[in-house]
Amino acid sequence: MTGSSPRPLSLGVATASYQIEGAVAEDGRGPSIWDTFAARPGAVRGGDDGTHACDSYHRLDDDVALVRDLGVDAYRFSVAWPRVQPEGTGRIEPRGLDYYERLVDRLLAEGIEPVATLYHWDLPQPLEDAGGWPERRTAEAFVDYARAVHDRLGDRVTSWATHNEPWCAAYLGYAAGVHAPGRQEGEAAHRAAHHLVLSHAWAAEALGDAHTGIVLNLAPVWAESDDPGDLAVADGVDAIRNRVWLDPLVDGAYDEGLLRVAPVLADPGLVRPGDLEAARGSAAWLGINYYTPVRPRRARGDAPPHPEQGAFPGVADLDLVVREPRTDIGWEVEPRGLEELLVRTHERTGLPLVITENGAAYADQVVVDGRVEDADRIAYVRDHLAAVARARAAGADVRGYFVWTLMDNFEWAEGYAKTFGLVHVDRSSPSLTRTPKASFHWFAEQVAAPARGRGAAGLVSP
Ligand code: FCB
Repeated sequence: MTGSSPRPLSLGVATASYQIEGAVAEDGRGPSIWDTFAARPGAVRGGDDGTHACDSYHRLDDDVALVRDLGVDAYRFSVAWPRVQPEGTGRIEPRGLDYYERLVDRLLAEGIEPVATLYHWDLPQPLEDAGGWPERRTAEAFVDYARAVHDRLGDRVTSWATHNEPWCAAYLGYAAGVHAPGRQEGEAAHRAAHHLVLSHAWAAEALGDAHTGIVLNLAPVWAESDDPGDLAVADGVDAIRNRVWLDPLVDGAYDEGLLRVAPVLADPGLVRPGDLEAARGSAAWLGINYYTPVRPRRARGDAPPHPEQGAFPGVADLDLVVREPRTDIGWEVEPRGLEELLVRTHERTGLPLVITENGAAYADQVVVDGRVEDADRIAYVRDHLAAVARARAAGADVRGYFVWTLMDNFEWAEGYAKTFGLVHVDRSSPSLTRTPKASFHWFAEQVAAPARGRGAAGLVSP
């Protein structure tokens, strides 16, 4: 599985704070926008929320032991801003940092590389109350927070990501309204996008080491046909899904096609002198989260509405087509999309790439005699790892691959109904018992395969 690239591919698993930790009011943690959003009737399937999640906050040792048993090289986690700065600005809560310090030390003691994401969507509620990501001061606040975390952990964590999937934070959160904070304001979403990019650039500069990247859910955008209407819609989708992030990071610019759908990005009150220059070259590596391709076409009025339809403000008459086969969350399975994306992103950026998330939701809830059979998840990961190997053989500089996710957890608007874990979590009792699934044992075998070699320490070191 090493392809022809010189480095062995690092293998890991990923999680995120709000999805696993629970303990939302403990050790001084303040409320986040996901606590507020989840409390809104109808916002999250089944009325679920992250109050208990997987209770990982109290089970840190057990969960690190699972990661150790998997044998992986690296573990990707996120830091909850409201644990570190309960008000979003100012005062630092040391007990919040203590938790992540314990986590990092436990991982290092087991020889597992910690990969830290600073923002995986749990914005402190007071910052949203002051306007949220559409406001520049949220980007300014992010830099202070990033510095506080880095001051505590920077001597031990060498792989840092600022944001996870800013497209979701901006466009699912502020345009489609299906994620926190649940606003439906297209222009605010574009403003949020700019401030997310800017906050990444400023934080990367503040962290002052060469290892700060950003995790994007870039997507292959495949127009349903060569019809000019379909191509025009696909260009708008590509602009908002891919180019609004990559263009400033690589070129320090927003392109014409993007400005057509997001004219506010030409507003000098928003995009101020120096902003785009700060963005250019600010990512030392790119994380790519890949699940499925995007297939836009001009609306013909006969497609079922897609939950992300509202997440492309400025793109008129959009249909998003989803082909078979699909996972339990309705996402098309197409490993060729990952191969294409890696090769294209390598050519476009020349940056070290890490697949920071890839995995599948399948309804495999049953534990029988201590086993959970999930052959469909094994096939999904196997076929995507093969796609990674092909991309590496074609020259893409891919350093790592992280399965989403270690254990079944709070899947945002889907609550606990959609399970992506290598480990089953029994939600029918407060014990939240963890049972490794067949895919866990299978992935452990891939990790241990002698032909693979061991992932290098310093996942994204130059
Ligand atoms: C990604 C998120 C991650 C998880 C997966 C399924 O968009 O980054 O937290 O929910 O989807």
